[in-house]
Amino acid sequence: MHEARRGSRAGGPARPRDRRSVRSAAAAALTAVLLSIVSALTAPTAAHAGPAFTNPLNSTGPDPAMTWYNGNYYLMTTPWSGPLTMRRAPTIAQLKSTAPVAVFDAHAPGRDRSIWAPEFHLLNGPNGPRWYIYYSAGNGDIESQRVHVVESAGLDPMGPYTYKGMIFGPNNWWGIDGSVVTINNQMYFTWSGVPTTLWRDSDPHIYLVALSNPWTVTGPRTAISAPTHAWERQGTPMNEGPVAIQRNGRTFITYSASACQGPDYKIGQLEYSGGSVLSASSWAKKPTPIFQRNDAAGVYGPAHHAFFKSPDGTEDWIVYHANDTPTQGCGSTRTTRIQRIGWNADGTPNLGVPVSTSTVLAPPSGEPAGPQNSTWRLQSVNFPDRYVRHVNYDVRIDPHVSPAQDSQFRVVPGLANSNGHVSFESVNFPGYFLRHSNYDFVLAANDNSTAFRADATFRQVAGLSDASAVSFQSYSFPDRYIRHANYLLRLDTIGTATARADATFRLVS
Ligand code: AHR
Repeated sequence: MHEARRGSRAGGPARPRDRRSVRSAAAAALTAVLLSIVSALTAPTAAHAGPAFTNPLNSTGPDPAMTWYNGNYYLMTTPWSGPLTMRRAPTIAQLKSTAPVAVFDAHAPGRDRSIWAPEFHLLNGPNGPRWYIYYSAGNGDIESQRVHVVESAGLDPMGPYTYKGMIFGPNNWWGIDGSVVTINNQMYFTWSGVPTTLWRDSDPHIYLVALSNPWTVTGPRTAISAPTHAWERQGTPMNEGPVAIQRNGRTFITYSASACQGPDYKIGQLEYSGGSVLSASSWAKKPTPIFQRNDAAGVYGPAHHAFFKSPDGTEDWIVYHANDTPTQGCGSTRTTRIQRIGWNADGTPNLGVPVSTSTVLAPPSGEPAGPQNSTWRLQSVNFPDRYVRHVNYDVRIDPHVSPAQDSQFRVVPGLANSNGHVSFESVNFPGYFLRHSNYDFVLAANDNSTAFRADATFRQVAGLSDASAVSFQSYSFPDRYIRHANYLLRLDTIGTATARADATFRLVS
């Protein structure tokens, strides 16, 4: 509503305000601008709320793969033997102190040795979205190395997982370091393989083949890169560890080159130039490496990498392994490191140079700060004996909740927006979140759709009836808040004192 300008008649020209009022208005405006600049400089940038860190992330961590999903980072590295393991934590600082957890150990003879380079991807399989881990294994003889696949039971990267098979099927190609990439809506498998039957007879190339499902190749394979440049042949001719990165409709497959035993292990780049994906001529190799040793920083053999987005999706990061000396070789001395990457003016990835282990880095943008990612209960402030709980996937406020876990939620960065927003993940039903549907609340499995993420994301604001408590404003319906009504949780506009009290909660452990 626009108030009539003071002193002006409706419809007539506005009477000029006197000079003093103009000066005081300008001073007020200038003050407001200065205050906003000062607060912007001093307030913690919400984008980097987590604590700063230094590399490495662990004391051993070859061949890392990493992602951010549903409020946590997930990291896998080469175990050599024993179970496939996963680290999970909400910040990089916490990830550094998180022990790996076994997620799959049903190895069988013939695929229970030399367990290398696990890489995990959320893919649409025959039963809907599932996590698939691709890892190399054999009987201990290098010639027996093949890539094997396990599938998660649901949307939790922590598993459990079941074995789906050796991905090459009757082809029985030699292969390690498997990864996947989707191009023109077709899923492809890429790996390090050899054109002959035996590994020892050839220099490992980078291969591509189509997938009929996440664990089954189909049709002919194509070698899209061989170690031909001198920088790919240091120590031994080698192309391995392929991993894709895509941006603005362009697809790059980056890979490790030269011997992993030496300090000159590095990263090269192929770009898909269009046409048949399975034609070698469709892939152009950059004639120089894009990431390599940095002696001044004490970083040797930096490669066998993967890429991940920051929690708020605004930044691209690389995770890779490296040694601290030039002679440490291709074993467990290789530790996991991460750093942000950029993009060149021509649209190609710019991985920069590997930073030293004394370089202090801001964490990826959008990391949670404060109580998020702990386990919390939402206590009603006007019915303090009642807590938000799920029952038969409905959501209400009840006293004496049993099992207690029905009222416990992990408060994680908002699935649709991690800055200042939260989502509520059930403790006893991981992967299930509170979401509104037709303004009622349900506990539902995150299908990672845009709609789900929006309906499960809420801005945490000061309590509408008590500023020392909290309220939760819908991300998808900003005029509505979480409230209880007749003990059921609903999403409503708030216009009365009672509604404000019904929409105010305390986060308690
Ligand atoms: O680190 C074990 C293996 O060594 C990796 O899978 C491969 O990239 C390298 O040859």
